[in-house]
Amino acid sequence: MLRQYKIAIPNAILLRFTSYFPVRSLGLIRGFCSSPSMATGIYSSSEAFATTSPPKLLFRQLFEKESSTYTYLISDIAHPDKPAMLIDPVDTTVDRDIAVINELGLKLVYALNTHCHADHITGTGVLKTKVPDVRSIIARTSLAKADILLEKGDRIRVGNLYLEARPTPGHTSGCITYVTGDAPDQPQPMMAFTGDALLIRGCGRTDFQGGSSEKLYKSVHSQIFTLPNDTLVYPAHDYKGYTVSTVGEEKLFNPRLSQDKETFKNIMGNLNLPYPKLIDIAVPANLVCGLQGQDSKI
Ligand SMILES: [Fe+2]
Repeated sequence: MLRQYKIAIPNAILLRFTSYFPVRSLGLIRGFCSSPSMATGIYSSSEAFATTSPPKLLFRQLFEKESSTYTYLISDIAHPDKPAMLIDPVDTTVDRDIAVINELGLKLVYALNTHCHADHITGTGVLKTKVPDVRSIIARTSLAKADILLEKGDRIRVGNLYLEARPTPGHTSGCITYVTGDAPDQPQPMMAFTGDALLIRGCGRTDFQGGSSEKLYKSVHSQIFTLPNDTLVYPAHDYKGYTVSTVGEEKLFNPRLSQDKETFKNIMGNLNLPYPKLIDIAVPANLVCGLQGQDSKI
């Protein structure tokens, strides 16, 4: 049974939250909170929330070597509960991620995906079986299942930190770039978790999963390259040893996306890449949180 609550918080800003499992089945409800004291939730772009004290960012970049995937750990360690989220966890490195989280005394609240991956199986479903109360998150347009399906502009809050969901389709039709808040008390410089939409000096392929070079070009130029030049770019993968870039660097030096649109489309149309090794296993699994055949646990 769906329940939605509204509670008053200082300066009369309303925080909406719901009971477990509501968001996937009813698109009307955007707000979500495990408990008011945890200060976690999903907010639409038209809603504001009160940050009660300045956040302190804890940030870790973790690596999975088989698929060259980065997993990002973010927490507000100034908040008494140290609520945390993981972006793009991988199933085979979930135990490592949990160990770090436990060592640092964090409370994992959300496990996010930037998109439905084709090269590895997400760790969100495994995390849900191992860590109580973790909610999985992905874009509604990904057509994958998760506890929370994001819409454009939704904000994911842990403590007094938040990420904004910016749709960046083109690599897949359901790609999202997560961007830290644009407010004085949020991390400076800003950080963009770009998934496969924008890689360091590269980008994700556009020849499967609803991919479109036309859409990817538009997404990157309208949703990422419009961020401040010093915005840190953290991609979902790197194959050359890079760890971080900036929007300004990629605008100048990305060999594909610094080109004009027609040149970019021509480059992407002539990559002649092999069929992804794991796509027939990974995509069906990732459509159900990485727990193929165990749908009831999602
Ligand atoms: Fe991908």
